[in-house]
Amino acid sequence: MEPSQVLARKYRPRTFSELVGQEHVVRALGNALQTGRLHHAYLFTGTRGVGKTTIARILAKCLNCEVGLSATPCGVCPTCRDIDSGRFPDMLEVDAATNTKVEEMRELLDNAQYMPVSGRFKVYIIDEVHMLSRSAFNSMLKTLEEPPEHVKFILATTDPQKVPVTVLSRCLQFNLRQMPPDLITSRLQHILEQEHIPCEPAALPLIARAAQGSMRDSLSLLDQAIAYGSGQVRLAEVGDMLGSIEQDYLLEILRALSIEDGAALMQVAQGMATRSLSFEQALQDLATLLHDLALLRALPGQREALGIDAALEPLAACWDAQTLQLLYQIAVQSRKDLPLAPDDAAGFRMALLRMLAFQPVAAAQSQPMPVLPKAAKPEPAAPVPTVPAARASTVTEKGAPPALGDWPGLVSRLSGAGMVFELARHSELVRYAEGTLVLLLEPAHRHLMSYKEKLRTALEALLDADIRISIDVGESVGKSVAAIEDEARAATLQEAAEAIRNDPFVQTVVGTLGGKLVESTIKPKHERDQGEH
Ligand SMILES: Nc1ncnc2c1ncn2[C@@H]1O[C@H](COP(=O)(O)OP(=O)(O)O)[C@@H](O)[C@H]1O
Ligand SMILES: [Mg+2]
Ligand SMILES: [Zn+2]
Repeated sequence: MEPSQVLARKYRPRTFSELVGQEHVVRALGNALQTGRLHHAYLFTGTRGVGKTTIARILAKCLNCEVGLSATPCGVCPTCRDIDSGRFPDMLEVDAATNTKVEEMRELLDNAQYMPVSGRFKVYIIDEVHMLSRSAFNSMLKTLEEPPEHVKFILATTDPQKVPVTVLSRCLQFNLRQMPPDLITSRLQHILEQEHIPCEPAALPLIARAAQGSMRDSLSLLDQAIAYGSGQVRLAEVGDMLGSIEQDYLLEILRALSIEDGAALMQVAQGMATRSLSFEQALQDLATLLHDLALLRALPGQREALGIDAALEPLAACWDAQTLQLLYQIAVQSRKDLPLAPDDAAGFRMALLRMLAFQPVAAAQSQPMPVLPKAAKPEPAAPVPTVPAARASTVTEKGAPPALGDWPGLVSRLSGAGMVFELARHSELVRYAEGTLVLLLEPAHRHLMSYKEKLRTALEALLDADIRISIDVGESVGKSVAAIEDEARAATLQEAAEAIRNDPFVQTVVGTLGGKLVESTIKPKHERDQGEH
């Protein structure tokens, strides 16, 4: 395998017949294409990595293939090839997650009135369409209401509820399904055969399950598994790999708890969600870690004899025995309650907030909880280093790189890259044109400018392409990854605090274990820093 071409990109289906699952969509689109009954606008919805962008591009080929309008584009004519390589002049792909400005939308749509340069149709593919600003939606609506004959819109979103009804009502909507584990498994098997990579078959269902319905996630996990196993995929190693990714997150959780950093906790939970880890397993393993910590406290100096991970040693001093009991109890109970939670991620977040919110009365009054040295406390805006640096580099090289338009996705790939990551997080993507990436850096972080060249090299490695970077300093419209995260975090914490006050489990613990709810611990971090200590 060419190491630079990650599997998800290399194996993006180019025809409907290569596509896995989504038969209901393929059938409907196939009929429409055969009978020539075409809509002006299509909307594909579904969670990430299930084929929205893939289907949009195949449809663009169906509409423009030089052999003729059909569900089976030839794949070899110049038009098909240009569409596959993203160079077709009549296909415009916009990622609304980064192009939310109305000016750009208008500019884009102004061109819709002109005839296509070389194809039958001008095709606008707008990804994450729910992220468009209200005024951008309005510009689009004007074109949607009276679309020129030669224009097709293909919209995609992970969050259709945020798309205005006025837009929804003008689209033919298709809901893509999550990929069942057995379909993922057989796809992985097929790809490994193509790549001549030896594999223990039992390892694949493990990956398929961890991917939780996302074909893309399964392929980047497979990339990692191949790297981890030095060119082979073995059951034990895949188990280790999936386990050690989780273990790093759990240690991060314990560290955040020890310094009572609610924002960091929520960020770890978010990181786990984006990597599709099982929250049920995580709660079980968290209970095991807390059990190990309790043992370390009860039997000091016995770590090696007990076979406990050395990484836990420095954490054992952070809680007294009673608090460890309580945290353990919360982990176990929350796991039992998981089926009752709105979803696993919410149940997991609640468990963390419970842990954060409790200190036994006795401990709180007599001896303050030992905390890690202040220096260990993350900067307010700093992300949780979700993967240790050593592994992060593997992830950066082997995971499927997001498209250049997916700025947040790219930025997240740089986590572990220290200041380069900080520079990226605090910058907004203004545009990407002709190999030049134009970024706008928040003025408060202008000192990061010196990492520009390093950012450029990191992105080149990630995208396997030549890239130039130009960075301006200026007031952004608040779309840097850091700004978006701050907003989301504040909202999540507010919701969580509300919910925890009404949580029956809170009452139980208060009653039976002598816990005390420390409400101040469930404030967003920035408020805590201003308000306390
Ligand atoms: N239905 C599918 N069949 C086969 N591969 C798929 C499918 N869906 C996603 N993939 C794989 O995942 C990658 C990302 O898919 P994409 O269509 O971009 O997902 P999204 O739904 O997030 O737009 C593709 O390049 C492909 O390798
Ligand atoms: Mg997509
Ligand atoms: Zn063709």
